[in-house]
Amino acid sequence: MEFQHLTDAVPAARADMLAITTFGDPSRDPVFKILDKALDGGLTEAARGESFEGKPQQCLSLWTGGKIAARRVFVVGLGAKGDVSAASLRDAGALVAQAANRGSAQSVAFVIPPLGANRDETVVQLIVEGAIGGTYRFARYLTSEESKKPASLTRFQLITDAKGGKKPSAAQGRALQSAIDRGVTVADAVCKARDMVNEPAAAMTPQALADAATALAKKHPSITVSVLGPKKCEELGMGMFLAVARGSDLEPRFIHLTYKPAKKAKKKVALVGKGLTFDSGGYSIKTSQGMEDMKVDMAGAATVIAAMDALGTLGCEYEVHAVAACCENMVSGRAYKLGDVLQSMDGTTVEINNTDAEGRLTLGDAITYVRTKIQPDEIFDFATLTGACLVALGPYTAGVMSDHDRLINGWLGAATRAGEEMWRLPLLPRLREQLKSPIADLRNTGDRFGGAITAGLFLKAFAKDTPWVHVDLAGPASVASGRPSQPRGGTGFAVATIVDYLTHR
Ligand code: BES
Ligand code: MN
Ligand code: ZN
Repeated sequence: MEFQHLTDAVPAARADMLAITTFGDPSRDPVFKILDKALDGGLTEAARGESFEGKPQQCLSLWTGGKIAARRVFVVGLGAKGDVSAASLRDAGALVAQAANRGSAQSVAFVIPPLGANRDETVVQLIVEGAIGGTYRFARYLTSEESKKPASLTRFQLITDAKGGKKPSAAQGRALQSAIDRGVTVADAVCKARDMVNEPAAAMTPQALADAATALAKKHPSITVSVLGPKKCEELGMGMFLAVARGSDLEPRFIHLTYKPAKKAKKKVALVGKGLTFDSGGYSIKTSQGMEDMKVDMAGAATVIAAMDALGTLGCEYEVHAVAACCENMVSGRAYKLGDVLQSMDGTTVEINNTDAEGRLTLGDAITYVRTKIQPDEIFDFATLTGACLVALGPYTAGVMSDHDRLINGWLGAATRAGEEMWRLPLLPRLREQLKSPIADLRNTGDRFGGAITAGLFLKAFAKDTPWVHVDLAGPASVASGRPSQPRGGTGFAVATIVDYLTHR
């Protein structure tokens, strides 16, 4: 799909489909009124007939019968102007692109919703992200003719309405074009993360993740990669990571991507992703139903790797490291057992009372690695860590934990701008009691209540005093029922927030 910014007078816009938005009641919308007039009142009639009130995600479609250049007008509701969120703008882009493809349209002209000239760039970026994200499909394993058919929509124009001769300046035009490029870059990274998550565990192995990271580093001169095998991890003393990996026939891979800016970096940021390419639970084995979707357990790794791809394209003022300890959690004669005492990279000993709490073990060593080898100013980890987080916040919202208020508030601000739902949970000191062991420094799980928090507290023991934010994306990493800009399956959750956080001016 090609994207382009144009300045056109609205009724004259040339495309198979002309798309506009309304903030609630369409009869008060100036662009709607102009089009309605050009269509001899047809839009008003259709809006009345279909009770179109411009509510979020509400759509209205009208074929123009040659009355204007476009063959079809498509109206998307955005709800009240004050309530328009980043996610609803993405959904609007998605609904338009989907309708265009359903109607075999090859080109769309989308009038940029007027949320204020200072917001045009953000709005354009989000619509582009929605158009790409909303037409994403994981079709690799589908074999029917229908599923192989390419989408009809190839040209997506974003229109600034030139009514009244208010053409944007050349500088504004360039800014909008670069907002388009940003949207494409972010959306491509999100789709890349989705692909990695949707790929079955048999294909998306630790080595396959390492290959993806290596290919990415080859593409960007600013990014380098190193992949450590089990021997190197052993030398580094990653006893927790290697214990989890031991039950699998596949060798673990510890991936480390580094982005370096051209100028001296303003700070160093480390992104750590959970990379369990399959989580059977190990000897604390999951039920069949609980295991069914456990190829998603590498979503954190997919997120940090894909985000690096976007950073390589967009550039960033910081030195950014993406690290993922990748392996499978399996059952075998070699697998780690309940009651085992592991030694972590920082020397802490951990008694295992549940082999299904494996993510915090792999992350603990990965966090120690970044803390001691990279010595970053900030650490962020991304992990499909606990079912308890889903119980607490539902399937669409990530649980975010930190005891660094400024850092977590900066992060949550980026999440809001990027339209990703995240909610802070407290790292309650009193729950640390649950992680005490009679024979080791820690045990790996607490009891049933506060499970998302005790997992966070476990990680905190390894982050120590380095400013650190933990993002539990067990829910939103993959969804059973999507939204227009986010079809079911892997979502690429947190990629957009990472890019915003690291590149926001
Ligand atoms: N990968 C799972 C968490 C998970 C659950 C991710 C549902 C996505 C959807 C994690 O390794 C796990 O098994 N956690 C346990 C922790 C418990 C043993 C303390 C859980 O949530 O049950
Ligand atoms: Mn598990
Ligand atoms: Zn897991």
